[in-house]
Parts: sequence; structure tokens; C-alpha cells
Amino acid sequence: MNIDDVKKVLVVGSGTMGQQIATVCIMHGMAVNLYDVKKELLDAGMERIDRLLGFFVKHRAISEQDRATAFARVSAVTSIEEAGADVDLVSESIPEDPKLKGQLFSQLNTICPERTIFTTNTSTLLPSMFAANTGRPDRFVAFHFHDVRTTTIVDVMPHPGTSKETVGLVRDFAVRIGQTPIVMERESVGYVFNFMLVSLFESALTLASNNVASIEDIDRSWMGVMGTMSGPFGIMDSVGLQTVWKVNDFWARALKDPQKIRNAEFVKAYVDQGRLGVKTRKGFYEYPHPKFRNPDFIRG
Ligand SMILES: NC(=O)c1ccc[n+]([C@@H]2O[C@H](COP(=O)([O-])OP(=O)(O)OC[C@H]3O[C@@H](n4cnc5c(N)ncnc54)[C@H](O)[C@@H]3O)[C@@H](O)[C@H]2O)c1
Repeated sequence: MNIDDVKKVLVVGSGTMGQQIATVCIMHGMAVNLYDVKKELLDAGMERIDRLLGFFVKHRAISEQDRATAFARVSAVTSIEEAGADVDLVSESIPEDPKLKGQLFSQLNTICPERTIFTTNTSTLLPSMFAANTGRPDRFVAFHFHDVRTTTIVDVMPHPGTSKETVGLVRDFAVRIGQTPIVMERESVGYVFNFMLVSLFESALTLASNNVASIEDIDRSWMGVMGTMSGPFGIMDSVGLQTVWKVNDFWARALKDPQKIRNAEFVKAYVDQGRLGVKTRKGFYEYPHPKFRNPDFIRG
């Protein structure tokens, strides 16, 4: 298959990431079938896609007219058989569970045409964990997005059985939908940016959980030297503290490392109080006006 043959995409999962991926696809001319397990979730996803398009209008990336044209390209489809029947590429964004993803891909293998390329947006798993379930490991690759409102960086990460053609096609597809692909040589947990970010989070949590410095001073230090708009704790609030806790807890349990356990417990104390970050308006900071946005924050 050639990049010009890729015209129709199936986005599976209409949650946070499925909505975003569908949005960039329709903004760049792709027809999209959006599928989720429940109609209510699909309806919510469609509403959010429309709002995301509104965000891009506001930021002058598209016009009001483009918004309507783009929105007409996405269809919410409640039957997976119908959703996958004639698509060129699948982008999967369902929960981070290798068994669940494996089951989905093996079902899709019986539904989608032979030519269809399968991609997963997994954050922390490796594509090789469920490549065999796809029934087409050569046409399967991890294709991972960040927040499309703030960056165009995406990762393309092959597993050992991914063909060079598939990597090339998905790289070209990324460019076609306005993204900037980072093509990895081989699979590695956390891709490129996330791998570095996890180390930053871990260092910040280690400093705070050992009472070396306060959350604010840790962020102040990072922001002051790097000249960034937020520091590690502010970034963790945007990611969501439940996600941060889950990732830390997984590795703490797996490695039984006392410091990692302390770090996971440090985050869990916030999660237990319902302080889940920006989305609940409370996390390490309080929103919509977190202290670190104060113009005098760096000076203390
Ligand atoms: N949230 C992020 O910042 C982020 C960033 C990059 C990658 N990811 C990855 O993207 C994936 C999805 O994350 P999310 O944050 O969008 O999750 P989410 O919980 O917001 O959405 C997941 C959706 O998948 C649906 N779903 C569950 N089982 C399904 C099935 N069998 N078929 C179809 N739909 C099904 C759920 O109903 C839900 O609507 C995960 O693998 C995650 O690691 C998340």
C-alpha cells in the first residue's frame, strides 16, 4: 500500500486520546470511523471532537468552514464489524491492558481487509506483547501521540516483526496528518520523550518524598533554570495523578524498590484525597490559577 491509498481510518476508543487522534485525522482529510463499546461514550467523543476542532479554529489552525468540513468526515459507528470493514489504518486507544488490546486486535484481524495497517497508541506497553494477536505482525506498529493541542510530536515504534514498509507508511501517514514523527530503531518502554519524562518525575518525587525540597521549590528550580512554563509537579498535574500513581505503583511493585515505593505512596496520598490534577482542579496545585503561573513564582 502507498500513502496515497490511505484514506480511511478506524479509531478504536473514543476517550481522551481517541478523540484527539480522530480530530487530527479529519483535519487533514481522512475519513474516520470512531468506535467505542457504548453509544453514550461515542456521543461524548463526537461532542469532544467538535470542541477540539473549535480549539483549532480559536488558535487559527483551521477556519470555521474547515471545522464543518472536517467534522463531516467522522462517523460514530456502534458495530465493530461495520466500523472496520473497509479501513486502511487502525489506531487503537483503549485502556492500557495487553490482554484487552490483544483481544481487540485479534477480532479486528477477522474484520478488517488484508491491507489494513494496525497501530496501537499504548503509553507503557511494548507492541511485541500483543503483536501475535494481530494476525499480521508485519503490518503492526506502535504509533503514539502526545496531547495534539500542544505538540505535533508522535512516536513510531516497530516491534521486531514490523516490516520496513509499515514503518515507512506510518511515518508518511503521520506527516500527512500534520504530525512530526520520531521513528525509533527498535522497541523500548516509554518511547523517546516519555522515557525522559518518567526520569524527571522520578527525580522530582524522590526529592519531595525524602523531604529534600518542597514541591514548589523543585518546580521553581526546574522552571527557573530551564525557562519553562511549568515544572515536574505542574506537568504531573496535567498528565493526571491517577496515571502518574499507576505507573509508579506498577514499577514499585515489579522491582520492589523502597524508593520507588515511597514515590508511589507520595502520589497516592493525593489520589486518595481526590486530588487527581488539573481535571479535578486540585492536585499538587489548585486550578485554574496554580501558584506556578504567578508571574512572581520564580522569585518566591
Ligand atoms: N491519556 C493520555 O495522556 C495518553 C497519551 C498517550 C497514549 N495514551 C494511551 O492511549 C490509550 C487510551 O488512553 P485514554 O487516556 O484515551 O483512555 P480513556 O479511558 O480516556 O479512553 C479509553 C476508551 O476505550 C474504550 N474501550 C474500552 N474497551 C474497548 C474495546 N474493547 N473496544 C472499543 N473501545 C473500548 C473505553 O470505553 C474508553 O472510552 C491507552 O493505551 C493509553 O496508555 C494515553
